[in-house]
Amino acid sequence: MQKPFDFVIFGGAGDLALRKLIPAWYRAYRDGQMPEGSRIFGTMRKAEQAENYRAMVREAAFNYLRDDEIDNETWNKFEACVFGVFINITERDEHWDALAKTLQEGNEERIFYMATPPAVFSACCKNISDSGMINKTSRVVVEKPLGYNGESAEKINADIAQYFEEDAIFRIDHYLGKETVQNLLALRFTNCIFEHLWDSKSIDHVEISISETVGLEGRASFYDDAGALRDMVQNHLMQLLCLVAMEPPSKLNADSIRAEKLKVLDALRPLTGDDVAANTVRGQYVAGESGGKQVPGYLDELGKDSNTETFVAIRAHIDNWRWSHVPFYLRTGKRLKQRCAEIIIQYKTVTHHIYPDSAGAMIPNRLVIQLQPDERVQMIVTSNNLEKHEADLVPSVLNLNLTDNYDKFYSDAYKRLMLDAAANNPALFIHRNEVDAAWGWIDPIIDAWQRPENKPQPYPAGSWGPQAAMDLLGEDGRCWFNVGENIKGQE
Ligand code: BG6
Repeated sequence: MQKPFDFVIFGGAGDLALRKLIPAWYRAYRDGQMPEGSRIFGTMRKAEQAENYRAMVREAAFNYLRDDEIDNETWNKFEACVFGVFINITERDEHWDALAKTLQEGNEERIFYMATPPAVFSACCKNISDSGMINKTSRVVVEKPLGYNGESAEKINADIAQYFEEDAIFRIDHYLGKETVQNLLALRFTNCIFEHLWDSKSIDHVEISISETVGLEGRASFYDDAGALRDMVQNHLMQLLCLVAMEPPSKLNADSIRAEKLKVLDALRPLTGDDVAANTVRGQYVAGESGGKQVPGYLDELGKDSNTETFVAIRAHIDNWRWSHVPFYLRTGKRLKQRCAEIIIQYKTVTHHIYPDSAGAMIPNRLVIQLQPDERVQMIVTSNNLEKHEADLVPSVLNLNLTDNYDKFYSDAYKRLMLDAAANNPALFIHRNEVDAAWGWIDPIIDAWQRPENKPQPYPAGSWGPQAAMDLLGEDGRCWFNVGENIKGQE
């Protein structure tokens, strides 16, 4: 049985804490996964907010949780485990000592969650340490963005490492907590049929897309400094790529999984200088129709001029035995046509065709792993049209909809990851070496994008991005399978 813990969220009144972390803990509590006696502390800079913290989290969580998830009696019991703490993260004063004393008298298991901008990570860790809060079980969870480039990431990692050992640092990437991402591992490593057909002999190419319909969502200043490459590719897309491409780990533990992911990052063919323009596309949305309404362009939303990209497409190659000549196409963007995250494994066609041309096209198999909006796995196969006497080949779908298959399926990546952090299981968290390796691949792309000819190309809100992104696959004789429209994408 897991031991009760104290979980301290620095930045407890922020958007992440209120919209994601607290609701996730409520779900864990409701599902009987939070050990009795555990406590959650949210820190904030305003005394008045700290005093009214429970009311604040209730209001925020009730806006966020689905109606059928809220049970007032359960919420009231959960709320009793939540405490507001008045602290200025960067100033070491008596409030830190008060929190230290509270923790001293509480649970031995201690988790500190940095739901703050990285600029204060270092000061916060120092104050945690100086006020004597670090005991032998303490661990720290760190949110992205982990740096602006390789150099700044290294500094953040070095700062935290002054106070916490590497095995006590949990770098979170919420995509790794999505259930279908877990299922990707189960699918690959427990089913003979997939792992034996998981290389350049059988696979033509891989597409990984995360498309969003939202725009800036009130995060203009953060987003404009970051852009889609730093915000989505350096972390979420590269992690998904690692899980698709890695060799089977010898064990299902953090060390084995991280070692295999690192090998993929090391084998990524570097994109530098002119290769960058040839293999990447940057886009920025202009006004258009999204979700049935007219929305402004990025620059209007931002209120100033900017060269920040809101869309990225990349053709990547992994130079190793398994993936030689198999392109991995990565794509992400804001204000795209549809919200969806999908991994598509496109198989090759069979080597010998026995059907006559009149039977229609033979569709190569396609494995679609959809992370959202639904969590589903589909295999597109070719079958024969039952209504016809003569051979008539049609695409059909083998469909595993995880959302339908489970009665009470509330997918919550943060819940999963915070429970892992509380249980001291780092398998789904990112090692410092992975962060370094990912930036090592991203940094030269950022450098090349400084050239004037690599400015982002406009695309209308509500579209699938700039034409150049279609051309990137078109020049290889391929096309994007528009996310969420798998069978249709084939037509
Ligand atoms: C975050 C990015 O990491 O992921 C956001 O900072 C993005 O810009 C979000 O919207 C997408 O996450 P999800 O789980 O909604 O696809």
